[in-house]
Amino acid sequence: MEIIHVSAECYPMAKVGGLADVVGALPKYQQQQGHIAKVVVPMYRTKFLYENEWEVVHKGNFAMEKMNFEFTIIKESKNKLGFDLYCVDINGLLDREKVYGYDDDTERFCAFQIAVLEWINKWEHLPNVVHVHDHHAALIPFMMQHCFAYNKLKNTATLLTIHNAQYQGWMAWEKAAYLPAWNTWLWGLLDWDNIVNPLACGIKCAGKVNTVSPGYMQELMEEANGLENLFKQEYAKCSGIINGIDYIVWNPEKDTYILDNFSVIDYTEGKALNKKKLCDDFGLKKELPLFIFIGRLVGEKAADLLPEAIRSALTLYEGELNFLILGSGDTVVENALMNMQSSFVGYYNTQITYNEKLSHLMYAGADFLLMPSRVEPCGLNQLYAMRYGTVPIVRRTGGLKDTVKDIDEKNGYGLCFNYATLNDIDISIQRAIELFNNNNKMKEIRKRMMLIDNSWIASAQQYLNLYTSII
Ligand code: GLC
Repeated sequence: MEIIHVSAECYPMAKVGGLADVVGALPKYQQQQGHIAKVVVPMYRTKFLYENEWEVVHKGNFAMEKMNFEFTIIKESKNKLGFDLYCVDINGLLDREKVYGYDDDTERFCAFQIAVLEWINKWEHLPNVVHVHDHHAALIPFMMQHCFAYNKLKNTATLLTIHNAQYQGWMAWEKAAYLPAWNTWLWGLLDWDNIVNPLACGIKCAGKVNTVSPGYMQELMEEANGLENLFKQEYAKCSGIINGIDYIVWNPEKDTYILDNFSVIDYTEGKALNKKKLCDDFGLKKELPLFIFIGRLVGEKAADLLPEAIRSALTLYEGELNFLILGSGDTVVENALMNMQSSFVGYYNTQITYNEKLSHLMYAGADFLLMPSRVEPCGLNQLYAMRYGTVPIVRRTGGLKDTVKDIDEKNGYGLCFNYATLNDIDISIQRAIELFNNNNKMKEIRKRMMLIDNSWIASAQQYLNLYTSII
């Protein structure tokens, strides 16, 4: 089967969050299972772009209302990622340093999607499935079915995967004129609440829709940033498939980003060495439990609760724990986290940045990973943590609920709480300290987590079943 993934992110070419990890891993597993999986993303000016070799595979042009664009599709020549990675180069529009956050993001992602279709429309053999990810690619199923220029793609199967339904790509109705001529009787497919809503349009038009965990799909029926009724309406074609993790990139036995490699057999020593390195580098105490948070400092992740939660833990349980934070996002949260450093020297440190390498070392050296998320479609960090023997402390929501079992349950291995509140976080930290002080139990749990199979194998098969059902 031939699949083309269309996405705004793909690790290691461009990463903002977990979307990149998924789009960088699933196709690799699909290739390994004997399929052809390709990925196409915008050509941003990233390190990966400059460090690799590319060949031009297609050139074309299109008009978006009164603007004319020339585009080039380039392909990474060495098959470094285990699948063919293509990038859409549109001079002046896509070739920027950041992935998102520009005033003309609507124009950028409309142009990206049109360029992708202009290109696929010229293929001699069409793919079996066009698999689009999130709102940046969610207008594609509509365009394939209803833009006259893409009539050839009308019957090609489409799957929309929603990694985050909070962001929907809303655009003013005037901007619908960007799309190549379409059957205007069908305007209702683009509309949700009197505005063009690309994510809603994708839900209506894609052959099937899935989110990245079954739990999140259930929650979307109740709370989906305005799309609850649409999810209820389209329930029959919606499902949840839990993300896997890339076992090649995230492997404590071979990871080149960490100081000392370890397996489920010799993790005690390996984790201790990585922890020592972290504690030395960030001025923390290696004999105390090390709690970490890694991720975007935004409301969805409940990052706004972190400063107070940490302050209170470091005060209440003074001298009993360390905290290390890695992430960036809201400046208010960033400043609050940084300003606290002088009050807790020796027990707390914050790195306001995105640093893939440091994140690996943190999973390897830490004891607990805190994820108090308000919304978590799947969450990958808890899965990475578990593979590296770090106990996840998670709020029972979305994918966190689906992947972490509390230690008080039979064969449990994590710490779970119900509400994204200071009180629930505090109780969990207390439980974590108790667990840490029970050496035997801690060992048993680390081992149990490290043996769980969260690789892509099973989930990749579920995607295949979904494709088969829509072809
Ligand atoms: C988004 C979600 C996260 C999920 C990831 C990959 O970043 O917020 O929960 O794991 O996408 O699907």
